[in-house]
Amino acid sequence: MAGNFFQDVDINFGGPRAQILNGGQVLTLSLDNSSGSGFQSKNQYLFGRFDVQLKLIPGNSAGTVTTFYLSSIGSAHDEIDFEFLGNASGQPYTVHTNIYAQGKGDREQQFRLWFDPTSAYHTYTILWNPLRINVINSFIYGTPDDWATQGGRVKSDWTKAPFTASYRNYNANGCVVSASGNSCSSGALNNQTWQTQGLDANGRNRIRWVQQSYMIYNYCADVQRFPRGLPRECKLPRF
Ligand SMILES: *[C@@H]1O[C@H](CO)[C@@H](O)[C@H](O)[C@H]1NC(C)=O
Repeated sequence: MAGNFFQDVDINFGGPRAQILNGGQVLTLSLDNSSGSGFQSKNQYLFGRFDVQLKLIPGNSAGTVTTFYLSSIGSAHDEIDFEFLGNASGQPYTVHTNIYAQGKGDREQQFRLWFDPTSAYHTYTILWNPLRINVINSFIYGTPDDWATQGGRVKSDWTKAPFTASYRNYNANGCVVSASGNSCSSGALNNQTWQTQGLDANGRNRIRWVQQSYMIYNYCADVQRFPRGLPRECKLPRF
């Protein structure tokens, strides 16, 4: 069941550049040459499944970064990131993922998208098992930084600003943390449910196909970056 942005999120960055439309069904984040914008879930969650549909900035989106991520609260935080790196008109977006555990990231992977993420809404999902208090965040911002702009060669075209991405069907299906105790939505029966949530054989095949066909960077394959050995999780079969 889709949520309502008025009820579910706070605009916590960039004020008027973020807008909630259609009675709460759609949220748009914009970036202009002064700054970006962002929102954060009002609720805090112990675990759950978080979906949002996102339509990315069309046309020349070079130098823009649109994000959807889950972050724990406090120091030594955990985080799961989707970051969509814009590109010149007609050139493919890159999706950049990262995972932080206990404050440490360095787990980047990058994929070319095999569909046009700007022509329609597509669903992006984060599934979170561990018991740790989290919020959902989303931001849009511009960056001249090398990692997002092919070494700084591709510049944002500010004559095309504002750059706008649209969100809809935000759905947090999890256990909400509150002063009066935790309350789980009906789909999130108990932690056991989430522990066993995973990909079926078909889903695993799809992942393998994406990794083989569209992965352009994998920290687990970057041996020069880890001279003292690859991180432990890289030895797990699913990586
Ligand atoms: C933009 O597209 C070019 C291919 O034309 C690609 O090499 C580059 O990595 C893309 N940039 C981003 C940020 O995705």
